[in-house]
Amino acid sequence: MAAPPITLAAELLDVVKLIYDPAGDKGECETYEARQRARQLLETLTKDVLGPHAYTICIAESCHESAALRLVTECGVADAIGDGAKPVAEISADVGVGIRYLGIALRCVNALGYFEQVGGLGSPVFKNNEMSNILRQGHPHTLKDAVELICDDGFKSAAYFVEATRAAADPNGAHTPASNLAFGFTGSVFRRWLEPEHAWRGKRMGQAMKQLHHAANRNVITGFDWQGLASPIVDVGGGIGTLEMMLAREYPLSEFSSVLFDLQGTIANAKEAWKPLLSTTRAQVDFVAGSFLSSEPDQTGIPRYPASTAHISHPTCAARLDGRRGSHHPQERTRGDGRFPAFFRVFRRPVGWHSKISEAPSL
Ligand SMILES: C[S@@+](CC[C@H](N)C(=O)[O-])C[C@H]1O[C@@H](n2cnc3c(N)ncnc32)[C@H](O)[C@@H]1O
Repeated sequence: MAAPPITLAAELLDVVKLIYDPAGDKGECETYEARQRARQLLETLTKDVLGPHAYTICIAESCHESAALRLVTECGVADAIGDGAKPVAEISADVGVGIRYLGIALRCVNALGYFEQVGGLGSPVFKNNEMSNILRQGHPHTLKDAVELICDDGFKSAAYFVEATRAAADPNGAHTPASNLAFGFTGSVFRRWLEPEHAWRGKRMGQAMKQLHHAANRNVITGFDWQGLASPIVDVGGGIGTLEMMLAREYPLSEFSSVLFDLQGTIANAKEAWKPLLSTTRAQVDFVAGSFLSSEPDQTGIPRYPASTAHISHPTCAARLDGRRGSHHPQERTRGDGRFPAFFRVFRRPVGWHSKISEAPSL
């Protein structure tokens, strides 16, 4: 039987005290688990307090919040406001969009904690706050591309889950992913995003992965025994090599090397992204273009596996972090499991957590 709300609230108070008690000598993992627990409790309490009707409507309406967040992010509202304060009319002129929906979107995200209304509720003047600052392009830890990937590509694809699921009811029918239905194309979404007309989406995905990894996985660099692995580390589907960049930064003098393996266009993007780095850093990485689905041999000798499901035990493949297998620890299973937009629905994982993930059974 579910615990009564008062019991949940009492546990929540204990968990919050544990997180914020400055005198407590808890470890990073303990704090991480406490934060996960706090979120679970808050979600359960919200459901209990609102009741089935209001809660269900909130869940259904969350698409509006996502759309509003996309609007302000993609239009660059936080950048347009900058370090000062601006009325909506001026922001709309600066970013070149109509004032009406911009105003609605701004008020929607403001209710969720983004931006500050200067002069109180109802004021048309906004300024940035800690929450909206991370939507700015130039913020050192911006989430602009990640928000756009999730609220545009992910959101639109998710809107076609029903159609994709219905189509899959025919066992003889072709399996068409929701993203193909949403964007009207056939074949791999990754290849689609490498076509010249859609290449900006591919580039955005690369930046988004970087931002998401920074938010959730930056401790993988120090919390995993990279030095203990044999070189080269082959990163299959490694994108623009965010992981390798972080490794190279952390272990600049290390002798280990990596092979970044991805589709041809992505490898071209990766080479661009690596250009500004030191030549010694660049020397730690080999770029190899190919497809892990192809039956043709390639330069790495990577054995062919069904995409993203198997361990790689080939001698040239010392490790593999492709963002899918082992990307969740069982404790991180949340209501978001299995949904693309919720893939990274975790906090920054503590040092050592990634070793636990790599030992956990494949999900
Ligand atoms: C979600 S991204 C993850 C990128 C990177 N692992 C990271 O965590 O930042 C998936 C990557 O798989 C690559 N990919 C998809 N299909 C592929 C294939 N058949 N062969 C090689 N790479 C592929 C995509 O180009 C993309 O860079």
